[in-house]
Amino acid sequence: MRMSPCIVTVVGARPQFVKAAVVSRAFAQAGVEECLVHTGQHYDAAMSEIFFEELGIERPAYNLGVGSGSHGKQTAAMLSGIEAVLLERRPSMLVIYGDTNSTVAGALAAAKLHIPVAHVEAGLRSFLRTMPEEINRVVADHLSDWLFCPTDAAVQNLKVEGIMDGMRRGPGTVHVLQVGDVMLDATRTFAPIAIAKSGVLRELGLFGKRFVLATVHRAENTDDPARLREIFGGLRAVASGVPVVMPLHPRTRGKLAEHGIASDGIRLIDPVGYLDMNALEAASALVATDSGGVQKEAFFHGVPCVTLRDRTEWIELVTHGWNRLADPAIPGLVERCVREALTTPKPSSVPSLYGDADASGRIAQAVAAAIRVPERVA
Ligand code: UD1
Ligand code: UDP
Repeated sequence: MRMSPCIVTVVGARPQFVKAAVVSRAFAQAGVEECLVHTGQHYDAAMSEIFFEELGIERPAYNLGVGSGSHGKQTAAMLSGIEAVLLERRPSMLVIYGDTNSTVAGALAAAKLHIPVAHVEAGLRSFLRTMPEEINRVVADHLSDWLFCPTDAAVQNLKVEGIMDGMRRGPGTVHVLQVGDVMLDATRTFAPIAIAKSGVLRELGLFGKRFVLATVHRAENTDDPARLREIFGGLRAVASGVPVVMPLHPRTRGKLAEHGIASDGIRLIDPVGYLDMNALEAASALVATDSGGVQKEAFFHGVPCVTLRDRTEWIELVTHGWNRLADPAIPGLVERCVREALTTPKPSSVPSLYGDADASGRIAQAVAAAIRVPERVA
């Protein structure tokens, strides 16, 4: 039987647009026909539209308009919407990114319809099952047929859970490939444009100044008033000496208001587009963040990072001295770590931890080969 050579890709949250920007280009170059589904998990113009415009991502063929809600409600609406698309398009493969609710909904919908699943950014673990992302990743990895890992650690994590390249599962074979990190591809592709074009440093009066760039959005921090207060208290103390600029995720804006947490002294701005974000990262003296993507982007720009958590999935950055952990549960630690990092020289070595900026090419080649229609021999 002749299979349709099209694939369906599910995106929904800000970091997934960045990843899809480079992988979709690589799919087009490899001749893979892609149908993009936006779940609508992120919907503000500054959280969604700006990425499609700036990064030249093709308009999604479907926008499910799911919006915000509890985990169950949001994921259920996605599951049902994605299933309808899959039944209509009957793709040869479904591609998912990262660890959001959009990721797990895509994996479940496809697996139940026996459509092979390819997971980009597979194998990451925090070993903390209270994180929604950890549940999403574990489920997605165990339902995936193609696992594209960014790091050695990710491949090892999968092995520990019994997921190995070449392993038989049901009628198919599981493929685990270490391809590098697609976010490095994105930074290499767009940072030069960002640095040439972005006016954000002048607009904010930061040009030529030493400043800290901070982001906070993770549920473990925002949903716990004590941790959120500690993070903002630490950053406010730092801001008395060095400007601290923070593009504020809407989740965090809501929680600051809800818990009456002070942010004066910190330069709060609306979420910025990817180009402005790269310009800010590249010019900063230090990044302080609980974002997965931003931790790595700091490193890609040669900027040290303080991670506002007690652990990270990107452990190699800690091992090599580019990242230090500041657990917001420990009073005073955020302020101390940020101050220390600002006065410590950068590590002298910049190891190659995330591949050669062609992870998307490898992914596209593997997917193209996997879905290729076998020609009937006459
Ligand atoms: C989600 C992901 C997280 C990822 C992050 C990237 C899950 C469980 N979490 O977290 O892994 O790191 O995206 O940014 O999938 N909101 C708006 N406008 C928007 C989007 C969200 O106002 O466009 C507000 C709503 O109040 C919403 C809240 O932010 O309830 C949280 O949004 P949600 O998508 O549920 O989770 P994130 O915190 O964005
Ligand atoms: N980002 C952005 N504007 C912002 C904050 C982040 O463009 O105001 C980009 C950032 O450069 C990175 C991605 O969004 O590419 C990371 O997303 P986020 O921190 O929301 O999620 P995570 O990576 O933690 O899942």
